Amino acid sequence: MNFVSSDDFSRSQINEVFAIADRLSHGRGESFIKEHAVMALLFEKPSTRTRVSFEVAMTQLGGNAVYIEKQHLQMSRGETVEDTAKALSTYCDFIAARLYSHSDIVKIAENSVVPVINALTDLEHPTQALADMYTVRAHKSDLRNVRIAFVGDIAANTANSLMLTATKLGSSVSLIGPRGYSPNSIYFNKAREYGTVDVYDSFDDGLEGADFVYTDTFVSMGQEADAERRRALFKDYILTDEALDHATPDTLVMHCLPAHRGEEITADVLDGPKSIVWEQARNKLLIEKSLIIYLSEQTDTGT
Ligand code: CP
Ligand code: NVA
Repeated sequence: MNFVSSDDFSRSQINEVFAIADRLSHGRGESFIKEHAVMALLFEKPSTRTRVSFEVAMTQLGGNAVYIEKQHLQMSRGETVEDTAKALSTYCDFIAARLYSHSDIVKIAENSVVPVINALTDLEHPTQALADMYTVRAHKSDLRNVRIAFVGDIAANTANSLMLTATKLGSSVSLIGPRGYSPNSIYFNKAREYGTVDVYDSFDDGLEGADFVYTDTFVSMGQEADAERRRALFKDYILTDEALDHATPDTLVMHCLPAHRGEEITADVLDGPKSIVWEQARNKLLIEKSLIIYLSEQTDTGT
């Protein structure tokens, strides 16, 4: 079993991962992974949180991780992604990959005999969305009564995964971005099959009733050449204290990080009392450990 897309897990599978996380966070015994299991971390883009938390997760579970930058692989000299997946899965027990192209991680999954985890692609960030919804659940136990507003780049990988994971769990999502800038239609339409997702171009309407307001960088990895145009495009969607006035006094602020203070969010909001961004970051480790245990259990039983 793989976790390449947020759509790979049903609601009950997400809840099984959350249940493992609950047990781990209470220090309760858990069936751990195979002794000395090794995860290949194949990264083509930078990472602070995801890379380090996966390495720590494997160490804490009694295994190990091997960090591999794509430029040091034969892939950089033309070996195919398919052959790379076959080779890595010969030696390792899991592959987690952060790649530019989502189609590359799909190819890895198709050619790997061990579980493959998406550690971010241009289209998705599924482990982030799991950690985010686990964080939301710590504040609002009934996820069916939760409304999450995603502000800014509503077509970002983080928005795509959050939309799917949140709606599967029964939460509603409002996407707030510039008029004429649309969410990714595939993810949007799929999320609308699972639940409620609406698009707004103003904070006024979009933040009404929002329990959580989420933002991400306006310039994702790989979009640097387009940075100036994108910052201008999203200039009215910076998360400020004034913007938050359109939400309720209890609304909490989320960001996957890394943050760019003064670009997509002000320092006052990011570092202010409503921010739960460091809880999100902390939960990445717990959720990744739980995901690894879950995938191990499923693989052991041949599912
Ligand atoms: N949120 C997140 O994925 O952070 P990194 O890019 O530091 O891994
Ligand atoms: N949307 C951002 C997320 C970083 C964790 C990016 O892809 O760069």
